[in-house]
Amino acid sequence: MGSALEWNAMYSVKVESMDAQHKRLFEIIRELHTAMRSGHGKEVAGEVLGRLIDYTVYHFAAEEKLMEKNGYRLLEAHRVEHRALAEKVVAFKKNSDAGSTGITLDLMTFLQHWLTNHILTVDQKYGEFLNSKSVR
Ligand SMILES: [Fe+2]
Ligand SMILES: [Fe+2]
Repeated sequence: MGSALEWNAMYSVKVESMDAQHKRLFEIIRELHTAMRSGHGKEVAGEVLGRLIDYTVYHFAAEEKLMEKNGYRLLEAHRVEHRALAEKVVAFKKNSDAGSTGITLDLMTFLQHWLTNHILTVDQKYGEFLNSKSVR
């Protein structure tokens, strides 16, 4: 999984504060990966996953606020996507809390793809628009 969990310039959305928050999301997912591999059991991984959910909710709200403030046309579609993603992560946490397996490789793969795909296909669309509104 290694390098795929590192933020790099390819993921830039051309808005500094959002890039910073995306870097933080990558960091927490790496932390989750480490927790999963270290075999500390589901308590530790569950705690990290809880923090990932909190930070995701925080990031989505900040991103939506920025788009809203600048009158971004695709805000509603973006919001729907955020809601679907947040629900999926919460459902994963419920499953892992209830089960005995804790965080699985499936979850890690989902989180990694979710983050990179969302940034590359949905988030990057607002970059030029926000730049044109002097948001950088
Ligand atoms: Fe987004
Ligand atoms: Fe984002």
